[in-house]
Amino acid sequence: MDKLVVEGGKTLSGSLRISGSKNACLPILAASLLSEGSSCIRNVPELKDVSTMASIFSSLGRKVDLSGDVFTVGEGELTNMMASYELVSTMRASVVVLGPILAKYGEAKVSFPGGCVIGARPIDLHLKGLRALGADIKIEGGYIVAKAKKLKGTKIYLGGHFGSSVLATANTLMTAVLADGETVIEDAACEPEVEDLCGFLMAMGADIKGAGTPTVRVRGVKELRGADYSVIPDRIEAGTYMIAAMITGGKLFLENARVEHNLALIDKLKEAGGTVDEKENGVEVYRKGAIHAVDITTLTYPGFSTDLQAQMMSLSTICDGISVITEKIFPDRFIHISELNRMGAEIILEGSTAIIKGVKKLSGAPVMASDLRASAALVLAGLVADGRTEISRIYHLDRGYEHLEDKLSAVGAKVWRVKE
Ligand code: EPU
Repeated sequence: MDKLVVEGGKTLSGSLRISGSKNACLPILAASLLSEGSSCIRNVPELKDVSTMASIFSSLGRKVDLSGDVFTVGEGELTNMMASYELVSTMRASVVVLGPILAKYGEAKVSFPGGCVIGARPIDLHLKGLRALGADIKIEGGYIVAKAKKLKGTKIYLGGHFGSSVLATANTLMTAVLADGETVIEDAACEPEVEDLCGFLMAMGADIKGAGTPTVRVRGVKELRGADYSVIPDRIEAGTYMIAAMITGGKLFLENARVEHNLALIDKLKEAGGTVDEKENGVEVYRKGAIHAVDITTLTYPGFSTDLQAQMMSLSTICDGISVITEKIFPDRFIHISELNRMGAEIILEGSTAIIKGVKKLSGAPVMASDLRASAALVLAGLVADGRTEISRIYHLDRGYEHLEDKLSAVGAKVWRVKE
């Protein structure tokens, strides 16, 4: 397993380019299965999760070509309607092929994704959406077996215990686009990734109103065509590098980053003492003085994203004062705390609230990545720690950050990969 080594203490400065969004492109790739026509999806990041999706397509009998940032889905029908445990267990998001396969072929068998290190991650809302549209769903041998002779539009309230669900909204939308009549999804997820999926579906010929709002209306169409589409920039990658500029006291220009996708983070970075300037085609972030403590509660969009909670916690470890971070989306998403404390942070956890007392310095240490965003948080901490931080299990990072060490090195960080 590869390791990442970070020598702390370098101030980052320069420009780096934000890649296409992982969480937008995965459902968009799945949506291409709604048509037997060829689709061309652009600005796709080079990530492990994308190559896992390509393997799922191959296992379903659909030809794909991945070259540079262009993912081309070849013409043709699926020859297999089953996504196996071996593939789905490596990437939870692959459950998003369920809706499109069911909608197009009337049956689908997809491995139950199970929980993961950030929490239980149920899929009851996905199943609720599909059942409301007329699917018959059973869980057999660890698989979701869905069948539908006819899918029919209806009204669906899709809010759950923790608010709206991004991928349940995506699955329901992708099933509704080929259903008979009108579907109204209430408490739909408003994340830009869902709006981008709607953009792709509309380019395929779907009739959707209210994309990016809590009420989405879909009028089913008979068939969809392949489309050529470019994915939005990754707001979580952009947010991570905004925090990298802040934590090192440097100045970064993030090409392609969009202010409107990161309003909650930017608000907190300004409160913490940062400057964030919107420029043509990007965002510039820097800090001159100390980092002030800020309190954060993660929420659904446009609230503060859970996918930036761990990175913001790294920033809070070296602020003036005490910060309080409450996690409302994945209440157990705190495995990074013990690793940050190994680096000299002072964090205690009370239920789903972390209390962080700022320290003067972190010190480099061997630490272990536990999930994608926690890994990024450890890299950020390593950038300001005294000495060397060695992060193991960085396959988590490779699932979601394109060429992280190259991008950081190009703006002055001392970070490299050790192959093992
Ligand atoms: N939930 C349910 N039932 C469901 C689905 C979700 O109770 O059927 C709960 C979850 O347990 C959680 C809340 O609803 O408490 C929100 O989860 P959501 O369904 O929105 O998460 P997701 O769609 O499975 C996507 C991202 C995650 C991101 C969350 C929240 C993708 C591929 N994944 O997951 O991204 O944290 O939305 O914004 O889009 C990451 O990139 O590191 C990552 C984990």
